[in-house]
Amino acid sequence: MNAAGRRQACLSAMGVTAWVPRTAAVDSPAALEADVPAALVPSAGEGAPDWDTLAATVAACQRCELHQGRTQTVFGVGARRARWMIIGEAPGQEEDRKGEPFVGRAGQLLNSMLEALGMRRGEVYIANILKCRPPNNRDPQPDEVAQCEGYLARQIELISPRIILCVGRIAAQNLLKTQTPIGKLRGQQYHYGPQAVPVVVTYHPAYLLRSPAEKRRAWQDLLFARHVFAAAEEGA
Ligand code: URA
Repeated sequence: MNAAGRRQACLSAMGVTAWVPRTAAVDSPAALEADVPAALVPSAGEGAPDWDTLAATVAACQRCELHQGRTQTVFGVGARRARWMIIGEAPGQEEDRKGEPFVGRAGQLLNSMLEALGMRRGEVYIANILKCRPPNNRDPQPDEVAQCEGYLARQIELISPRIILCVGRIAAQNLLKTQTPIGKLRGQQYHYGPQAVPVVVTYHPAYLLRSPAEKRRAWQDLLFARHVFAAAEEGA
């Protein structure tokens, strides 16, 4: 199958049969207002861990109660020099068992979403807001996020991606430090951290599995993310 055929197959897997590119305002005043204040981004500072030290620290972490119920931590997966970073919520049952993010049904859809953009899973980096599975997949608690967010901040700093794609409300609200509903966060560009990494928000693949009618909007988000990425590449 050629590249166009593969892309169409991935779009079909996403349930997208037709789409119209959307023009979205990059760096609109509303978007800039929503940037994460630097003071709220956990800073790595002097003596920040290198990748191996960070991975070992996470693997042994007992900073919150979630360590008691986990099979293992789920650090992240993908290319260390990835230009795209995907951030989800927290490991589920499968991820806890395998030690890798997005390996269940939602992960398969995420792979299709990436392939629809012409990317393989292995060339992006995938991580979560939390490194341990919350019991019964409940939402992460603020104290758990607070204990874990420095790990993710350091991962972002070390990878230095050109774009972060937040999948789902929990990822978006916690990374951007906002309570704004996901429907309002979509379609704008934000910036994260001292490196001002562009951030784009879309729906969580698990939500898309439950609400397939929203896949069309998710595809619009992915096209917008690609647009933001291209602009970031150009400006680099
Ligand atoms: N959902 C997430 O947000 N992350 C995973 O790793 C798996 C499911």
